[in-house]
Amino acid sequence: MTRRPLILAVAGAALAALLVVLYIMWEPAIAPVSTPAPSSFDRERTLQGARVVALGDCAVCHTAKGGKPYAGGLPLVTPFGTIYSTNITPDPETGIGNWSLDAFARAMRHGISRDGHQLYPAFPYIHFTRMSDHDIEAAYAYLMRRDPVVARPPENALIFPLNFRPLVAFWNVLFLRPAETQPDPAQDEAWNRGRLLVDGLGHCAACHSPLNAIGGEKPGRAFDGGVVDNWETPPLNRLANGPVPWTKAQLVTYLRTGISGAHGAAAGPMLPVTSELATVPETDVDAIATYLMSLQKPAPAPAVVPVAAALPDRGAIVRGAALFIGACASCHGTGSPMQSMGGRPSLATSSAVNAATPRNAIQMMLRGVPWNGEDAIHYMPAFAQAFNDQQLSDLAVYLRATYSRQPPWTGVQDTIATLRKGDESQ
Ligand code: HEC
Ligand code: HEC
Ligand code: HEC
Repeated sequence: MTRRPLILAVAGAALAALLVVLYIMWEPAIAPVSTPAPSSFDRERTLQGARVVALGDCAVCHTAKGGKPYAGGLPLVTPFGTIYSTNITPDPETGIGNWSLDAFARAMRHGISRDGHQLYPAFPYIHFTRMSDHDIEAAYAYLMRRDPVVARPPENALIFPLNFRPLVAFWNVLFLRPAETQPDPAQDEAWNRGRLLVDGLGHCAACHSPLNAIGGEKPGRAFDGGVVDNWETPPLNRLANGPVPWTKAQLVTYLRTGISGAHGAAAGPMLPVTSELATVPETDVDAIATYLMSLQKPAPAPAVVPVAAALPDRGAIVRGAALFIGACASCHGTGSPMQSMGGRPSLATSSAVNAATPRNAIQMMLRGVPWNGEDAIHYMPAFAQAFNDQQLSDLAVYLRATYSRQPPWTGVQDTIATLRKGDESQ
């Protein structure tokens, strides 16, 4: 009983401290403006903006499935709940039509909406903060010249207490370092441009780094690889899942076409990134590759695999081979039209098949490569419904044994079960 006043005092002091911190971090609204006339932005600036929004994947996140470009509403599923992207067309009511350039720049650099509310870091402003003023202005011009669309995103569904937006201010203290990147005079122009694009606009680390328990990128572990939307992202500082290391030229081709003859194809969340990079000048992609090559660390010593685990499962391989001939060989078999006419690489080059875990190979089978409406040679059906867990597992064991020199995967069945569950929750 005697402790009660003490507990109350401590709780009271903590609450007071919280309110003081929130007050200090509180950001005011920036006054609305009337929507700038499209003609107030010159063509040159708008064209530069097209390049900026492509490099920043703005349309990828701000367009719902089947929705109008930039009108928002795409659900982003995080461990903390679902966040919907917002409408960034110039509609004054539901979009950013009444945002001044200052309000837009504050959102990009500090993650604060025009009316002063904190934005969730699913919007990668911790990376966009490094953009140049020039790029922010160009993106603003480009977006203000889009057709306004009336659209409101659905309500976010976040776990308590994260549905209380002001808490993001604390997160920002840990992870947001607002500043435009200054060039490193010791490096050449391509490297500096590449760093700006990779660390800033391209926000590559947002997907290619391990995250901590509160969804922040682990300090000092940028580009070490991670997991996004249930796909594994390979480390970008040790590019070598497949049998051969990457060259800069291969990286440029992969990033611009989604395909590398020596390393397989982009899939899952990487596919839209490469589709956007296909539209920007090659010099930008070349700069990205220059910077990535400079990040490469030596490969770690190969893992010692216990002998029992290293023995392939013969029964599974035989069953997997039969399934492969029926369902996959028409496209992936040697001499198939996809390989002979489409020039597609053999599965032996695939990073997914050579990776340390079966996750991406299983994701490929579950989801396939969506039909993009024009390029029949780049389509793979999704097999989630066609095969049960045992069949998928047999196929995975077969792929690994046939197309890779790496030891068999462990935990194939568990991975399949987890990935299927991930599907249900989306
Ligand atoms: C990884 C996904 C993702 C990418 C890429 C992305 N955004 Fe967003 N953006 C979001 C989400 C999600 C929100 C909403 C956050 C919230 O409501 O807290 C958002 C919010 C915004 C807002 C604030 C809008 C408002 O009404 O408060 C602006 C402005 C914005 N984004 C602009 C951009 C621009 C410009 C780009 C490209 C350079 C871009 N975004 C790229 C996910 C993304
Ligand atoms: C209609 C053609 C088609 C069929 C059938 C097909 N795939 Fe694919 N698959 C593709 C395409 C296209 C890609 C993307 C890579 C490319 O374009 O070369 C791909 C990619 C893959 C990858 C990733 C390769 C990489 O480059 O990282 C794996 C693994 C894979 N398929 C496995 C399978 C398995 C297993 C089956 C059968 C259950 C199958 N595929 C059936 C067309 C097909
Ligand atoms: C939205 C998440 C996301 C973003 C943003 C992203 N990536 Fe990826 N990336 C992935 C995933 C997932 C894979 C693995 C699947 C695959 O191989 O297609 C991947 C694969 C790759 C690979 C192939 C590596 C290998 O060993 O096969 C390269 C190279 C790459 N990304 C570079 C980049 C660069 C450069 C950027 C920034 C311009 C970037 N990525 C941004 C998700 C992302």
